[in-house]
Amino acid sequence: MLTILWLLSLFLPASCAQLLVTCAYKGLCQQALLSSNDVVLQCDHLQAYWYFSSFQGEDPFLVSSLPNIKKLPGGSLQLNKPQPSQTGLYRCEDNNTALVVEYEIDFQDVTMLHITHKGLGQNPLQNQSLSLGREEMVFTHWEPWQDCNRCGVPGERKRLGYCYIQESLENPMPCWLYLGDEKVWSSRLRPEMQVEACLVPCNESEELIQPFFTSDISKLGQSTNNVQLTCPLASIYR
Ligand SMILES: *[C@@H]1O[C@H](CO)[C@@H](O)[C@H](O)[C@H]1NC(C)=O
Ligand SMILES: *[C@@H]1O[C@H](CO)[C@@H](O)[C@H](O)[C@H]1NC(C)=O
Ligand SMILES: *[C@@H]1O[C@H](CO)[C@@H](O)[C@H](O)[C@H]1NC(C)=O
Repeated sequence: MLTILWLLSLFLPASCAQLLVTCAYKGLCQQALLSSNDVVLQCDHLQAYWYFSSFQGEDPFLVSSLPNIKKLPGGSLQLNKPQPSQTGLYRCEDNNTALVVEYEIDFQDVTMLHITHKGLGQNPLQNQSLSLGREEMVFTHWEPWQDCNRCGVPGERKRLGYCYIQESLENPMPCWLYLGDEKVWSSRLRPEMQVEACLVPCNESEELIQPFFTSDISKLGQSTNNVQLTCPLASIYR
């Protein structure tokens, strides 16, 4: 049986492991991320102006009006516990309204995270077609495995996977950037995390900063499919 965990607060208060998202000058970059995990969008311009537009058809507005978003002194934008509703286009302009950099960010709902452990025979989600009439396929775009959380003794490592949609012959896109304001519900539309056992030798010149994660997910989920884990010093990105 698949066990689905609902992680409600895998964010970190410390700034040390904040994910930095970068993009080339005047570029437009698309990225899927997880909600409730802090990120910084880079824009190296001292007099940067950031605008946000969602897919709900509203005009772009200055993000300084949003309580969980802060412009850093160098021009980059810090998003504190971003919500799925903050999915959309983030545009950084210079003081002459010229584009510096743009990001299309899909904040996928961390409370929908589908977690599986390889060693327990749990399977990640299967590819699935959507019926919007354009032969769309929903699949998980996996990040590389992260470092083992311990060395010299058995440990665990994890990798994150984001929901992507691919239309035949088109480039795949993060699900909610593809869907825009289209109202579609499918239980396949969710991000994933996979965990596996690892055993790596210790390297004294390299500090292992992986938080210890968990060992047996199925036990946690025995009485109910919903479990709330809080790990205030960990980030899901490392
Ligand atoms: C924009 O900023 C630059 C660098 O600070 C400054 O030299 C320039 O006068 C500014 N332009 C406007 C229109 O404010
Ligand atoms: C799922 O779809 C992706 C993208 O089209 C593809 O790369 C992957 O091989 C597919 N996986 C399976 C099991 O069919
Ligand atoms: C140990 O870590 C250092 C720094 O990351 C790296 O240069 C070195 O190759 C590593 N040694 C081994 C045996 O992995």
